[in-house]
Formats: sequence, C-alpha cells, structure tokens
Amino acid sequence: MILNASGCLDALEAPEVARALDVFVTKTVTPQPREGNRPVRIAETEAGMLNSIGLENPGIEKLLAEKLPRLAELGVPLWVSVGGFAAGDYADLCGQLDDRDEVTAIELNLSCPNVDEAPESAAEIVSAARMQTRKTLYAKLSPAATDLPDTARAVQAAGADGLTLVNTMRGLALDEKTLQPRLGRETGGYSGPGLKPIALAAVYQCYGATRMPIAGMGGITTGRDALEFLAAGASAIGLGTVLFADPDAPGRVRRELAEELASRGLSAADDATGLAHSSGPVTVA
Ligand SMILES: Cc1cc2nc3c(=O)[nH]c(=O)nc-3n(C[C@H](O)[C@H](O)[C@H](O)COP(=O)(O)O)c2cc1C
Repeated sequence: MILNASGCLDALEAPEVARALDVFVTKTVTPQPREGNRPVRIAETEAGMLNSIGLENPGIEKLLAEKLPRLAELGVPLWVSVGGFAAGDYADLCGQLDDRDEVTAIELNLSCPNVDEAPESAAEIVSAARMQTRKTLYAKLSPAATDLPDTARAVQAAGADGLTLVNTMRGLALDEKTLQPRLGRETGGYSGPGLKPIALAAVYQCYGATRMPIAGMGGITTGRDALEFLAAGASAIGLGTVLFADPDAPGRVRRELAEELASRGLSAADDATGLAHSSGPVTVA
C-alpha cells in the first residue's frame, strides 16, 4: 500500500498524482484555520530539505464543508491528518470526522516540530481521540524521542490501531554568506534521504515492540527503500519529499518495489513485512 506523507501533496491541485496512490492523506487540519509560519518556509539542504510550514490549513469547518466532498470524488481512500494544542482539540476533531463516510482513517499528528506541542502525552491524546471515534486511528510519532518504543507501546494500549513513522526532525540551515538561519522561523523539520536510517530504526524498533501496522516514511525515493521499510516492519509506504522532485514517484516506486519483491521470490508486499526481524538472511532468488 502506497500513500503520500501528510503535507507533501495537494490532491486537488494534482489529482493524477493522488489517483496513483492507494490512500491519500490530507495535510494536518487543526480546529481553527492557520496561516502557518512566516517565510522563508522551505530550504534545500544536504541530503534533504527543511520546512517550517507550521501547519498552514483552512481549519476543520472548511475541510468538512468544502474539501472532503471534492477529495472523495478522486475515488481514492482518504485519511485525514489532525493536529491540535491540547488533547481536547484532537478529540473534537475526531468526533467531527467520525460520521463522515469519506474518511477511512484518522492520523493523529503528535509530532510536528514546527508548532508548540500539546502538553499532554501521546497516549493521553490517543485515549481522548479514541473515545470520540470508531474510525481506524494511526498515531504519527516523532523520531526524536529516545523512548520511542515505549511511546509506541503506550499509544497501542491507549487504543491506536496503527503507527505512522516518522515525522520530520528539527534541523537548521545557515545562509552561506551571512551565516544567518535560512528559514524565517530559524529551525525547521528535516526530511528526505538523510532521514532514512533514522526512520528505518524507528520502524524496526516500534514493530519489534508492538507488531502494529506501520505506515513507514522518511526519505523513501526508490522501490529498494520501500522494500527496506517493509522488511523493518512497515505494512504501508509513505512518499513525502520525493513528490516535490518527482510527481511520478508513486507509479515508479510501485514498479520498482514489485521488481525487488519478485527478485526475492516474494509474491506480495505483505510477505516482506517484518523480514528484517526473522532469524535468517533473505537472499535474492
Ligand atoms: C513541506 C512539508 C510539509 C509537511 N506537512 C506535514 C503535516 O501537515 N503533517 C504531518 O504529519 N507531517 C507533515 N510533514 C512530514 C511528512 O508527512 C513526513 O512525515 C516527513 O516529511 C518524512 O518523509 P519524507 O522524508 O519522505 O518527506 C511535512 C513534510 C514536508 C516536507
């Protein structure tokens, strides 16, 4: 299953890219509209990019009234990513989405490095959200936590159905001449190929700790990358930064992954999930 990473694709602007996915994930929506952070909000850097968008979004009311019906017309299953500044915000958003048939799952963004986080723990937020919705709930965690497997276990106990791993990590880029921060907000979230080993470790450890379904992302650009995320424990693959450079990535990664699987005698992506945890090596057939 291939999906986009939240915030990395505007499906209404690029419907043909969205239709090449198995699931479209919205940009994180918050209770109120947000303008996001001041510019500059994107900077290319070594092996990836920094962004400090700051959850710019139209707010839940407009999403429900205008965007969801249009997104549903794409014919692609929809996940809505929600974010807030207290557990009550997440619970409210989930309650409003619960009876919307267009929505197959809700992703709780518990990990944006560009806004000040909710003071409650990830597990408290998941519990509050769980009480308001019967929909499938994915908890999106930050790779920065040192106790990530513990957090994964805690959100599982609190009622999450799956994990999305990982969000960006805080990074800084300085202007070559002035040595001043290149982003208006100074630091931003680092994404792209440089994030891959960190993301793989997060998927590997959290799968080991919970055996939950995991949407893995962080620097995936090729079918080979996708295969590695599956082997580490992911059951779905998220494409983020790669979509800015290559809008054809969903089809390309899907083809490349099929070749990688076939060359190992695997008939389906599901057969690759968790292979890195098995005792013996997996050789090319
Ligand atoms: C420009 C941009 C905007 C993003 N916006 C969101 C967002 O709204 N919500 C969220 O959960 N993650 C957001 N992310 C993080 C991505 O969903 C993803 O977790 C991260 O970029 C790692 O994947 P990648 O290396 O393939 O890009 C954003 C990332 C980028 C680059």
